[in-house]
Amino acid sequence: MSDTGNLHPFTQDRDRFAELGQGMLAELETFLTDIKTGTMNRRVPNDVRRQLMDLEMPANGQAPEDMLAFLRDTIFPWPITISQPRSYAWICAGFAPLGALADLAASTMNTGLDGYDHASVFLNVSVGRWLMELTGFSAADGFCVLFSGGSAANLNALTAARHKAAKDDGWDVRTEGLQGGRPQFRIYTSAEAHSSIQKCAEQLGLGSQSMRLVEADENFRLIPGALKAAIVRDLEAGDRPMCVVAGAGTTNVGAIDPLNDMADICAEFGLWYHIDGAYGGFGYMDPGYRDQYLGVERADTMTVDPHKWLQAPVDCGALLMRHPERHAEAFGLKPDYLMGSDEDSAPWPYEHMFQLTYGNRALKTWAVIARMGREGVRDLVVNCNRLTALLGRIVEEAPDLELLSPVSLSVVNFRYVPEGETDNAVLDRLNDAISDAIGEGGEAHMPTTKVRGRVALRVCILHYENTEDDIHHLVDLVRRCAAELTAD
Ligand SMILES: Cc1ncc(COP(=O)(O)O)c(C=O)c1O
Repeated sequence: MSDTGNLHPFTQDRDRFAELGQGMLAELETFLTDIKTGTMNRRVPNDVRRQLMDLEMPANGQAPEDMLAFLRDTIFPWPITISQPRSYAWICAGFAPLGALADLAASTMNTGLDGYDHASVFLNVSVGRWLMELTGFSAADGFCVLFSGGSAANLNALTAARHKAAKDDGWDVRTEGLQGGRPQFRIYTSAEAHSSIQKCAEQLGLGSQSMRLVEADENFRLIPGALKAAIVRDLEAGDRPMCVVAGAGTTNVGAIDPLNDMADICAEFGLWYHIDGAYGGFGYMDPGYRDQYLGVERADTMTVDPHKWLQAPVDCGALLMRHPERHAEAFGLKPDYLMGSDEDSAPWPYEHMFQLTYGNRALKTWAVIARMGREGVRDLVVNCNRLTALLGRIVEEAPDLELLSPVSLSVVNFRYVPEGETDNAVLDRLNDAISDAIGEGGEAHMPTTKVRGRVALRVCILHYENTEDDIHHLVDLVRRCAAELTAD
């Protein structure tokens, strides 16, 4: 009760929490049905865009019922439909109901995951161990921090790598900064690496010119000999190799770099070994791919995103750390007004990262793994890879379709090629138009990418509901759109 005798709106709402929550859940259930059965083309109409951008701030608090009606009428109809089985765009997961409810639980408890010995901080340890098992990273003394996504996880890894390289050379990058005219740090990765690696180099003050984009083979996998030669060349030139970043499931084509060979090279030159498995880290669970993951257990750090293949609600990207103390050295700072962990504590994430307060992502990650179990995760990964392989076979056998990258994990790139057409510029325009037509039609969502400079229809299958029917539908849809576009 306030001094004026009115209950604060939040007090009123807390007293009706279950009732208000049921109203919201009922609307969300309708949303889920609508989005599954309706069109996937949910482009926000122009008047709604204007309405949303020009919204006036209410002078007085609105009624919860009016606010729910606003969400129902103005927000829910216009999402981006990436959680649907026939969305093959980018790297997008399906909807995990208990993951979403666990997120609600985290918001309701309203405790971050920074530290302070509350239950989720301890749970985070098991979640990390589970993630390490699901990726083969397995590190008895390792630790996992759940970031906003793969980009943030990569940044933490490379920051710790930079700190370690400087320390090994007898200086402290935290106190001295990068202005000392020291040898140029070098980061080695393939040209297929995700753009976040370049952003990391820029953020770390090394500049994108610190990156060595090592040549890849015809399957888009980094060539170990080329990596070694690049390191030797840089050492001879007086530069300081800092770390190697391998891809376990590259974004564009799903390639898995030769992880074990790269681990050998890192061991030989004493370099930090980071694996970016934001998308493909869980590919380890597919026995058909297991061999290619040999070497994961030798990485210093590995990124793997629960908000991708594991279907955790956005946002959640894990960094698996084999040597948590190195991250604590790179980030730890304890002012008087903050407590620190003690011997009874589980490791506190904030002591290993840049942020202090951050969201409790342990609950939703726990929820999606606990609900599927180890076998469920394996079945999901195997099924996605199996369906993508089926699509690859169909494309290879079809006279009017062409594979543009080998099927790897759950990614395939292909294009439609009308009989007799060999002009790449014409094919680029046609395949762009096919992708646009698919998006407009609302039966599926499949933006293009470029593979070796050519426009590709890129398919990434990550949804737990995808079946062979979807694959046949997709091929048929491409042909239908192509027929309409090429009809005289
Ligand atoms: C291999 C890889 N690394 C990093 C990222 C960045 O992840 P996020 O978007 O979660 O920051 C992605 C995103 O697709 C990715 O595929």
